[in-house]
Amino acid sequence: MSNISLKSPVGVNGIGRIGKLLVWMLSGRKEQEQIVISTGREIGKSLEDLATYLAYDSTYGGYDKFLFGFQSGKRVEIKGNNIYLNGVKIVWVNDPKCRVAGNIPWADNGVELVFETTGKITDPTSNDDNSLRGHIRSAKKVVLTAPFKIKNKGAAMPDDAVTVVGGINFDKYDSSKHNLISNASCTTNCCAPAIKALVDHFGDKFISYALTTVHAATNSQAVLDNVPKSGDKDTRKRRSILNNIIPTTTGAAKAVIEVIPEIRELGIGSQASALRVPTNTASIVIMDISLLGEYDDDYMNDVFKKYSEKNPEVMKFSTEQLVSSDVIGSPYSTIYDSLFTHRRTSKRGNNSYTMFDLNFWYDNEFGYVNTLLRLYDMIAGRH
Ligand SMILES: NC(=O)c1ccc[n+]([C@@H]2O[C@H](COP(=O)([O-])OP(=O)(O)OC[C@H]3O[C@@H](n4cnc5c(N)ncnc54)[C@H](OP(=O)(O)O)[C@@H]3O)[C@@H](O)[C@H]2O)c1
Repeated sequence: MSNISLKSPVGVNGIGRIGKLLVWMLSGRKEQEQIVISTGREIGKSLEDLATYLAYDSTYGGYDKFLFGFQSGKRVEIKGNNIYLNGVKIVWVNDPKCRVAGNIPWADNGVELVFETTGKITDPTSNDDNSLRGHIRSAKKVVLTAPFKIKNKGAAMPDDAVTVVGGINFDKYDSSKHNLISNASCTTNCCAPAIKALVDHFGDKFISYALTTVHAATNSQAVLDNVPKSGDKDTRKRRSILNNIIPTTTGAAKAVIEVIPEIRELGIGSQASALRVPTNTASIVIMDISLLGEYDDDYMNDVFKKYSEKNPEVMKFSTEQLVSSDVIGSPYSTIYDSLFTHRRTSKRGNNSYTMFDLNFWYDNEFGYVNTLLRLYDMIAGRH
């Protein structure tokens, strides 16, 4: 039984790329009468500036057009002192005190579940005012739109915290126990379903995988080169995303093992890296895997066909020659590119091995926000 009502107002802390799209989608579904957003600061000079920010989008082309079509009419309105999106009231918390999570009056506004989207608060072990636990002094549960990061490396994951990914381990969520819930990263949501399908199918014949995400730009990057901050470890992050392919790290390898512990149990080798590229959204995971035995492309395609039929909201099986802009606006966690799959077989002693190159697309913004909605539906007991 869920202790979160689908009708109660949802809270969103931070309205950057993920927070704003989440507000779009929640108001588009119109299941709550109000959504509470906290920015902990003013936006521009007036309520109109916030309304304009919410109404237009350089990537998806604007709220009305994207959600309801060109001729839908204006669905972002100001009535009195409030903005309404599709008739849903947006309660805006802009008090500077509320930059600190523990000061946001979620309960006063009826909020039971908060999405923490600022990217600044990620440690489930912290009990400071400005922590995930700060939110649940007033709300009941908090969903982190990123992987948990424990600052004190020796500390254990608390019992009330869990990482869940759709298509893999929603069954690990226990409503009576878990109040801090991480939805992992967009890259983990893209590659983990594929790895789960491979682990379940090949078991101990699955030797290793290496993945590279070629990832669109995010606001954590610099538009033009800027001066590295004091103590910056990865100064490449300060290089211009307009002009570069920027190698960086990803926590995906670790996060995938967290949600698929069989990887460790079976001793499957894993590695992950990332490249940031100058596109506004839509990314691809290139996954090279090694298997014991000989398999052809049709065999591999069949593994993902079956997985996608069992998990139709999570994985799409594509038979089209996609490029990244084709997946902008895709709601799937991952799109398997069956036309791209290719392999080579080798022999050592009496054993044959097959190395496959597999591609998985994802809209790192909109696709990820849809993974959040599926998680929310699960927590609120819809499925
Ligand atoms: N973008 C993606 O593709 C993607 C995909 C999956 C997950 N994520 C994760 O989702 C999180 C957000 O990513 P994003 O791309 O949406 O980042 P973003 O565009 O930078 O948005 C973060 C927003 O949070 C606000 N903020 C920061 N501190 C705040 C505070 N104390 N109170 C209220 N608002 C605050 C920032 O505004 P101010 O100017 O007020 O600081 C900013 O607008 C990150 O953890 C990221 O890793 C991102």
